[in-house]
Amino acid sequence: MTDVSVRRVLVLNGPNLGRLGSREPEKYGTTTYADLVAECEKTGAELGLEVEVRQTDDEAELVGWLHEAADGELPVVLNPAAFTHYSYSLRDACAQRTAPLIEVHLTNPAAREEFRHISVVSAVANGTIAGFGVDSFRLALRAISTL
Ligand code: DQA
Repeated sequence: MTDVSVRRVLVLNGPNLGRLGSREPEKYGTTTYADLVAECEKTGAELGLEVEVRQTDDEAELVGWLHEAADGELPVVLNPAAFTHYSYSLRDACAQRTAPLIEVHLTNPAAREEFRHISVVSAVANGTIAGFGVDSFRLALRAISTL
């Protein structure tokens, strides 16, 4: 039987994040995507959240998941990856949120190349946590648990 007191949270990841661990480890670290999933689930369990972690390289799929979250009033932790910097369709999907949405980044985009300094998502998120590696996700789940 489902425990109705447990709050569901979607942790959504955009393009190339499935390659964590082998992708530019000097920037993104050696934690694999599987490790990230396990860490999010563990943090969620500690906070009494049922965390479901997903990743896609497909903008349309990510937009669809945000619609699902909006329809289900589900909080979202979102690492939009490169979509952060240019995807207005993703921004418009985030704007439809009906529950808290936190933008996260492993690295600090503000300290990187200029094209990463713009986030089209930030203005339609409750807040942004960036630059703390996998801890960015843990901190975001903690923030969700307080909202
Ligand atoms: C990222 C930062 C983005 O600029 C980049 O395109 C990513 C990952 C991060 O988590 O640091 O793919 O979102």
